[in-house]
Formats: sequence, structure tokens, C-alpha cells
Amino acid sequence: MKRLALLGASGHGKVVADAALASGWDAVEFFDDAWPQCQSNGPWPVSGDSVALLARLGEFQGVIVSIGDCTVRWAKHQTLQTAGAPMATVVHPKAVVSRYAVLGVGTVVMGGTVVNIGAVVGQASIINTGATVDHDCRLGDAVHICPGAHLSGNVQVGNGSWVGVGAAVKQCMILGERVMVGAGAVVVQAVPDGLTVVGNPAAPLPSRKT
Ligand SMILES: CC(C)(COP(=O)(O)OP(=O)(O)OC[C@H]1O[C@@H](n2cnc3c(N)ncnc32)[C@H](O)[C@@H]1OP(=O)(O)O)[C@@H](O)C(=O)NCCC(=O)NCCS
Repeated sequence: MKRLALLGASGHGKVVADAALASGWDAVEFFDDAWPQCQSNGPWPVSGDSVALLARLGEFQGVIVSIGDCTVRWAKHQTLQTAGAPMATVVHPKAVVSRYAVLGVGTVVMGGTVVNIGAVVGQASIINTGATVDHDCRLGDAVHICPGAHLSGNVQVGNGSWVGVGAAVKQCMILGERVMVGAGAVVVQAVPDGLTVVGNPAAPLPSRKT
């Protein structure tokens, strides 16, 4: 029996659990630091907090952090990995992932996505529903490509960056670390570390210029 523990009883967590069960895991169990206030997540109970998960690691064949916030997800992922947790990778059966693509541990790839040949995705990243990551893209750790976002070929995305729902990134663009690309943006220029960009063509949010 393959049992997957998920840390993060969120809406995102439900989608990860659903994808895990569709892709061959027999059972999922949620943990969340909001326990005991947080007792359930959709059809699943929440068993305890992250301390409880650390105490029960031996019961699971896989562990994944299902927290949307990239910074928190990365911190929890590292804590679990250091503790020897068997960090898993979840790929929905309706995702198309090239055999020549590489996915880091802790990464989830949702239904309706395409990850093309030569793409490399780091650890604890999210390729969300219907997103595409085209050939030879290089994504760092704790990246989130939101639903319906599209990365053309040879795009680089730094650690902790977020590409918003429905955004598009032109080929060969370099996005730095902790970048936020707003929903629906069209990125046609490099984006430096820490910047939030919105619109078409994407430009910095006035309040966020550094
Ligand atoms: C870009 C973003 C991070 C900005 O969030 P924020 O800092 O809270 O910004 P605000 O909502 O206060 O908006 C600030 C200004 O930017 C504008 N703005 C915000 N997001 C925008 C977007 N995606 N495109 C164009 N303009 C946007 C707002 O209209 C507002 O303009 P104003 O000052 O003229 O009124 C956010 O709006 C966004 O797009 N997040 C992505 C959400 C997403 O993809 N979710 C998927 C979850 S899986």
C-alpha cells in the first residue's frame, strides 16, 4: 500500500491529493500547522501538524508539501528533506511530460499540462492545471507556474518565482528569483530578481519599482 503524506490542507492540497490518487498512490493523509483548528480538507481528515508528520515519517512511502506560498513551501520542503522524509513527485496521469524532461523531488504537475523535451524543473515546484513549459526551459526550486500560464522555449525562471494565471512568457526570457508575474501578463523582457510585473507588455507595478 503506497501512502502519501501531504503537508498543507489547502485548496491546492486537495488538487495535489486528487492528482496523487489518480496517479497510483493508494491513500493520502493531510497534515497542517493549523491543526487542531483545521480538521478536514475536502473529503480528507487532517491528522495533525508538521511535528506530528515528522514523528510519523516511517509510515509513508512519499511526502509532499502542498502549500501554495513559494517561500513557505520551500522552507517546509527543506525541513522535511533534512529529516529524511521520502519526498515525492506527483504527476497527474493527464499531464504530458517528455521523457527528456527532468522534475525535481517535491514537484507537482497537474492535469492538462505539457512539459516538453529538455525542460528542467527544480524541487518543490508547481506546474499547475493546463500550464505549459516548453522545450529547454530551466525552472528553479519552489517555482509556481499557475493555471493556464505558458512558458515558450528556453525560458529561465529563478527560485521562488511565480508566473500568474494565464500569463505568457516569450521564448528565451530570463526571470530572476522571487519574481511575480501578474495574472494575464505577457512577458517580453527579462525580469530582475524580486520584481512584480503586470500587463501586456509586462511592466513593473508602479508601487513595486526598485
Ligand atoms: C500582480 C499581483 C501579484 C498584484 O497583487 P497586489 O500587490 O495585491 O496588487 P493590487 O491588487 O493591490 O493591485 C495594484 C494595482 O495593480 C493592478 N493589477 C493587479 N494585478 C494586475 C494584473 N494581473 N494585471 C494588470 N493590472 C493588475 C490593479 O488593478 C491595481 O491598479 P491601480 O493601482 O490602478 O488600482 C496580483 O494582482 C496577481 O495578478 N496575482 C496573480 C494571481 C494568480 O495568478 N493566482 C493563481 C493562483 S493558482
